[in-house]
Amino acid sequence: MDIDTRSAGSSGSSAIDIAPTGKALGAEVRNVDLKRLDDQAFAALLRAFHDHSVLLVRGQTLSDQDLIAFSRRFGELDWAPVQETGRRFVEGLPEIYIVSNVKQNGEPIGSLGAGEAVWHTDMSYLDMPPIASALYALEIPPVGGNTSFCSMYAIHDALPDDLKRRITGLKIKHDGTYNSGGFLRQGVTPTDDPRTSPGAIHPLVCTHPDTGRQMLYLGRRRNAYLVGLELADSEALLDELWTYVARPDFAWEHVWQVGDLVIWDNRCTMHRRDPFDDSSRRIMHRTQIKGTARPV
Ligand code: OGA
Ligand code: MN
Repeated sequence: MDIDTRSAGSSGSSAIDIAPTGKALGAEVRNVDLKRLDDQAFAALLRAFHDHSVLLVRGQTLSDQDLIAFSRRFGELDWAPVQETGRRFVEGLPEIYIVSNVKQNGEPIGSLGAGEAVWHTDMSYLDMPPIASALYALEIPPVGGNTSFCSMYAIHDALPDDLKRRITGLKIKHDGTYNSGGFLRQGVTPTDDPRTSPGAIHPLVCTHPDTGRQMLYLGRRRNAYLVGLELADSEALLDELWTYVARPDFAWEHVWQVGDLVIWDNRCTMHRRDPFDDSSRRIMHRTQIKGTARPV
C-alpha cells in the first residue's frame, strides 16, 4: 500500500521531502498532509518557504476550515477583499476569497473571471501588505489558467550595477485602483494618472524581514509611479525595470491539478495567470496572511 507514515504527524518525524523546482524559485513539498502537520514538520515547511519563496503541495483534501487552520500557522489572516460584485464570498468565513469564473444565477461566485491576470503582488496598495497568499485548487480547466511566479530577489540581483545605482533610494507608489484582472476595486474612483491614483508608497528596493535578502518591489505595472520623478521619467524607468520581469529565467510556471495547494511569499515574488476558456470551470479558494510591518 502506498501510505507514507512519515506524513502522519503522530510519528513526530519532520521528514517531509522538499523538491526544488530547479527554477529561480519554488519547491514541491511531498509526503505531507496539511491537515496533520506536527510542529517539526511545519518548521521544516516554513524553512522551505523562506528558501524557495513558493511551495506546492499536491494531493490535498482541504475543507475551507482546513485551509484556514493551515494558513493560520503562518500568522493572523486577512479578511478577503470584497468581490468585484460588492459581495462577500463565503458566508460565515470572511477569510476565504474565491478566484473563479463560475457563475451562479448569473452572478460570479468569485473574482478574476477567465481572462489573464497580469503580473502582480497581492494588495501591495496597503501600507502593510499581506505576508503570503495560499491558493487551493478545487476545480481546474483542462487547459489554460496556469499560474507563474517570479523571484524579486533574482530580478534585483540581476540588475546591472548602473541601474541599481539609479534606483537607489527611490520610492514607488503601488496602485489601488485596479486588480490584476483589470477590474476596478470596490469604492474606488477610476483614474489613470499614476501621480494621483490611490495607493501606498513603498521603497523600490526592500529587505526581506525574514531572509535579509534584497528584493525589487514592483507590485504591478498599471498606475505605478516613482515618487518625485517627472511622469515620463517614472514611466521610462519602470518600463526598463519591467523588462527583467518578463524574463523566463526568473520565473516558474505551475500547471494546476485539483488538490494542489500553493503558498507564495507575497513580499519577494509576483505572480500572473494565463487566461482560459470561459466555458470551462475553474474554482480556487484563497487565504491571505496579514501583513505585520511596512516594507523597508
Ligand atoms: C490570486 C491570484 C491567480 C490564479 O489569487 O491572488 O492572482 O491563478 N490568482 O488564480
Ligand atoms: Mn494575486
